[in-house]
Amino acid sequence: MKLKIITSTTREGRHGIAIEKWITQFAKSNTDFEVELLDLAVINLPFMNEPNHPRMQKYQHEHTKAWSVKINEADAYLIVLAEYNYGFPAPIKNAIDYLFNEWMHKPVAFVSYGGVSGGLRSTQMLKQVVTTLSMMPISAQVNIPFFAKLINEDGIFQANEVIVKSAEHTLAELQKWSMALKNMRGQ
Ligand SMILES: Cc1cc2nc3c(=O)[nH]c(=O)nc-3n(C[C@H](O)[C@H](O)[C@H](O)COP(=O)(O)O)c2cc1C
Repeated sequence: MKLKIITSTTREGRHGIAIEKWITQFAKSNTDFEVELLDLAVINLPFMNEPNHPRMQKYQHEHTKAWSVKINEADAYLIVLAEYNYGFPAPIKNAIDYLFNEWMHKPVAFVSYGGVSGGLRSTQMLKQVVTTLSMMPISAQVNIPFFAKLINEDGIFQANEVIVKSAEHTLAELQKWSMALKNMRGQ
Protein backbone atom coordinates (compact mmCIF):
# COMPACT_ATOMS: atom_id res chain seq x y z
CA MET A 1 0.00 0.00 0.00
CA LYS A 2 1.40 3.35 -1.02
CA LEU A 3 0.81 6.45 1.09
CA LYS A 4 1.55 9.87 -0.36
CA ILE A 5 1.97 12.66 2.17
CA ILE A 6 1.28 16.00 0.51
CA THR A 7 2.26 19.46 1.71
CA SER A 8 -0.15 22.38 1.42
CA THR A 9 2.13 25.42 1.60
CA THR A 10 5.08 26.48 -0.50
CA ARG A 11 6.09 29.93 0.74
CA GLU A 12 9.64 30.78 1.70
CA GLY A 13 10.15 30.24 5.41
CA ARG A 14 7.08 28.04 5.81
CA HIS A 15 6.76 26.09 9.05
CA GLY A 16 4.65 23.25 7.70
CA ILE A 17 7.73 21.43 6.48
CA ALA A 18 8.70 20.60 10.11
CA ILE A 19 5.35 18.83 10.63
CA GLU A 20 5.56 17.16 7.22
CA LYS A 21 9.00 15.71 7.97
CA TRP A 22 7.78 14.50 11.37
CA ILE A 23 4.62 12.76 10.10
CA THR A 24 6.52 11.22 7.18
CA GLN A 25 9.02 9.65 9.58
CA PHE A 26 6.21 8.66 11.96
CA ALA A 27 4.26 6.92 9.18
CA LYS A 28 7.39 5.10 8.00
CA SER A 29 8.10 3.82 11.51
CA ASN A 30 4.54 3.00 12.59
CA THR A 31 2.72 1.61 9.54
CA ASP A 32 3.15 -0.89 6.72
CA PHE A 33 2.62 1.85 4.16
CA GLU A 34 5.28 2.58 1.58
CA VAL A 35 5.52 6.30 2.35
CA GLU A 36 6.54 9.16 0.10
CA LEU A 37 6.48 12.88 0.88
CA LEU A 38 5.30 14.98 -2.06
CA ASP A 39 6.47 18.52 -1.36
CA LEU A 40 4.52 21.00 -3.48
CA ALA A 41 7.36 23.52 -3.10
CA VAL A 42 9.67 21.10 -4.91
CA ILE A 43 7.08 19.82 -7.39
CA ASN A 44 6.45 23.47 -8.26
CA LEU A 45 3.25 23.22 -10.30
CA PRO A 46 2.26 26.47 -12.01
CA PHE A 47 -1.32 27.71 -11.65
CA MET A 48 -3.47 25.08 -13.34
CA ASN A 49 -2.77 25.57 -17.05
CA GLU A 50 -4.13 22.45 -18.78
CA PRO A 51 -6.52 23.25 -21.67
CA ASN A 52 -8.76 20.20 -21.11
CA HIS A 53 -10.78 19.05 -18.13
CA PRO A 54 -8.59 16.67 -16.09
CA ARG A 55 -11.25 13.98 -16.40
CA MET A 56 -10.17 13.52 -20.03
CA GLN A 57 -6.52 12.96 -19.04
CA LYS A 58 -5.34 14.68 -22.22
CA TYR A 59 -2.45 16.31 -20.45
CA GLN A 60 -0.36 18.77 -22.47
CA HIS A 61 2.36 19.55 -19.95
CA GLU A 62 5.17 17.43 -18.54
CA HIS A 63 4.54 18.76 -15.01
CA THR A 64 0.97 17.41 -15.17
CA LYS A 65 2.06 14.02 -16.53
CA ALA A 66 4.63 13.64 -13.74
CA TRP A 67 2.06 14.71 -11.08
CA SER A 68 -0.47 12.26 -12.55
CA VAL A 69 1.98 9.35 -12.19
CA LYS A 70 2.69 10.19 -8.54
CA ILE A 71 -0.96 10.57 -7.56
CA ASN A 72 -2.15 7.61 -9.57
CA GLU A 73 0.19 5.15 -7.86
CA ALA A 74 -1.12 6.03 -4.38
CA ASP A 75 -3.54 3.95 -2.30
CA ALA A 76 -4.00 6.67 0.31
CA TYR A 77 -3.19 10.32 0.88
CA LEU A 78 -2.38 12.37 3.91
CA ILE A 79 -2.51 16.13 3.48
CA VAL A 80 -0.60 18.28 5.95
CA LEU A 81 -2.89 21.27 5.92
CA ALA A 82 -2.30 24.85 7.01
CA GLU A 83 -5.05 27.44 7.32
CA TYR A 84 -4.83 30.73 5.43
CA ASN A 85 -7.60 33.24 6.21
CA TYR A 86 -9.91 30.53 7.57
CA GLY A 87 -9.52 28.48 4.40
CA PHE A 88 -7.16 26.10 2.61
CA PRO A 89 -3.92 27.48 1.14
CA ALA A 90 -4.01 27.92 -2.66
CA PRO A 91 -1.13 25.53 -3.53
CA ILE A 92 -2.98 22.43 -2.31
CA LYS A 93 -6.21 23.36 -4.10
CA ASN A 94 -4.21 23.98 -7.28
CA ALA A 95 -2.45 20.62 -7.00
CA ILE A 96 -5.78 18.85 -6.48
CA ASP A 97 -7.44 20.61 -9.44
CA TYR A 98 -4.82 19.35 -11.91
CA LEU A 99 -6.14 15.76 -11.81
CA PHE A 100 -9.40 13.89 -11.48
CA ASN A 101 -9.46 10.11 -12.02
CA GLU A 102 -6.13 9.65 -10.24
CA TRP A 103 -7.69 10.71 -6.91
CA MET A 104 -10.89 8.71 -7.21
CA HIS A 105 -12.02 6.12 -4.66
CA LYS A 106 -9.03 6.63 -2.40
CA PRO A 107 -9.01 7.71 1.26
CA VAL A 108 -7.52 10.97 2.46
CA ALA A 109 -6.60 11.98 6.00
CA PHE A 110 -5.57 15.38 7.31
CA VAL A 111 -2.88 16.59 9.66
CA SER A 112 -3.92 20.19 10.20
CA TYR A 113 -2.10 22.97 11.99
CA GLY A 114 -2.66 26.60 12.86
CA GLY A 115 -3.47 28.96 15.71
CA VAL A 116 -6.42 28.44 18.02
CA SER A 117 -8.43 26.38 15.49
CA GLY A 118 -5.46 24.17 14.51
CA GLY A 119 -6.59 24.24 10.88
CA LEU A 120 -10.04 22.76 11.50
CA ARG A 121 -11.82 25.36 9.36
CA SER A 122 -9.39 24.74 6.54
CA THR A 123 -9.95 21.00 6.82
CA GLN A 124 -13.73 21.29 6.71
CA MET A 125 -13.43 23.37 3.55
CA LEU A 126 -11.09 20.94 1.83
CA LYS A 127 -13.25 17.93 2.74
CA GLN A 128 -15.99 19.40 0.58
CA VAL A 129 -13.59 19.70 -2.36
CA VAL A 130 -12.15 16.19 -2.14
CA THR A 131 -15.58 14.56 -2.11
CA THR A 132 -16.21 16.08 -5.55
CA LEU A 133 -13.31 13.93 -6.74
CA SER A 134 -14.86 10.83 -5.12
CA MET A 135 -12.15 10.70 -2.51
CA MET A 136 -13.05 9.46 0.96
CA PRO A 137 -12.05 12.00 3.64
CA ILE A 138 -11.73 9.98 6.83
CA SER A 139 -13.06 11.24 10.13
CA ALA A 140 -9.94 10.64 12.21
CA GLN A 141 -7.52 13.55 12.02
CA VAL A 142 -4.46 15.02 13.64
CA ASN A 143 -5.20 18.57 14.73
CA ILE A 144 -2.36 20.78 15.97
CA PRO A 145 -3.38 24.13 17.52
CA PHE A 146 -0.61 26.60 18.38
CA PHE A 147 1.79 24.37 16.47
CA ALA A 148 4.66 26.90 16.64
CA LYS A 149 5.17 26.10 20.34
CA LEU A 150 6.09 22.54 19.33
CA ILE A 151 8.85 23.48 16.87
CA ASN A 152 12.22 23.82 18.56
CA GLU A 153 15.06 26.22 17.69
CA ASP A 154 16.50 23.68 15.23
CA GLY A 155 13.20 23.64 13.34
CA ILE A 156 12.28 20.13 14.54
CA PHE A 157 8.64 19.40 15.34
CA GLN A 158 8.25 17.74 18.73
CA ALA A 159 4.92 15.98 19.01
CA ASN A 160 3.25 15.71 22.41
CA GLU A 161 1.43 12.61 23.65
CA VAL A 162 -1.98 13.72 22.39
CA ILE A 163 -0.62 14.30 18.90
CA VAL A 164 1.21 10.96 18.85
CA LYS A 165 -1.98 9.13 19.88
CA SER A 166 -4.06 10.87 17.25
CA ALA A 167 -1.42 10.18 14.59
CA GLU A 168 -1.46 6.47 15.48
CA HIS A 169 -5.25 6.39 15.32
CA THR A 170 -5.46 8.38 12.08
CA LEU A 171 -2.90 6.22 10.29
CA ALA A 172 -4.59 3.01 11.52
CA GLU A 173 -7.92 4.27 10.17
CA LEU A 174 -6.29 5.30 6.91
CA GLN A 175 -4.83 1.83 6.54
CA LYS A 176 -8.28 0.22 7.02
CA TRP A 177 -9.88 2.54 4.48
CA SER A 178 -7.08 2.05 1.98
CA MET A 179 -7.55 -1.72 2.06
CA ALA A 180 -11.32 -1.45 1.72
CA LEU A 181 -11.14 1.00 -1.15
CA LYS A 182 -8.38 -0.86 -2.99
CA ASN A 183 -10.72 -3.82 -2.95
CA MET A 184 -13.52 -1.62 -4.24
CA ARG A 185 -11.32 -0.33 -7.07
CA GLY A 186 -10.65 -3.95 -7.97
CA GLN A 187 -6.89 -3.55 -7.97
C1 LIG B 1 -1.67 34.41 4.53
C2 LIG B 1 -1.79 33.78 5.88
C3 LIG B 1 -3.04 33.62 6.44
C4 LIG B 1 -3.18 33.00 7.70
N1 LIG B 1 -4.42 32.76 8.20
C5 LIG B 1 -4.55 31.96 9.28
C6 LIG B 1 -5.83 31.49 9.69
O1 LIG B 1 -6.85 31.82 9.12
N2 LIG B 1 -5.90 30.65 10.76
C7 LIG B 1 -4.78 30.24 11.43
O2 LIG B 1 -4.90 29.45 12.37
N3 LIG B 1 -3.55 30.69 11.09
C8 LIG B 1 -3.42 31.52 10.02
N4 LIG B 1 -2.18 31.94 9.62
C9 LIG B 1 -1.02 31.58 10.44
C10 LIG B 1 -0.52 30.22 10.02
O3 LIG B 1 -1.16 29.22 10.80
C11 LIG B 1 0.99 30.12 10.16
O4 LIG B 1 1.62 31.22 9.52
C12 LIG B 1 1.54 28.85 9.57
O5 LIG B 1 2.93 28.83 9.77
C13 LIG B 1 1.21 28.72 8.08
O6 LIG B 1 1.76 27.55 7.55
P1 LIG B 1 3.13 27.62 6.68
O7 LIG B 1 4.18 28.20 7.59
O8 LIG B 1 3.42 26.19 6.33
O9 LIG B 1 2.88 28.51 5.50
C14 LIG B 1 -2.02 32.58 8.39
C15 LIG B 1 -0.77 32.76 7.81
C16 LIG B 1 -0.65 33.35 6.58
C17 LIG B 1 0.72 33.49 5.96
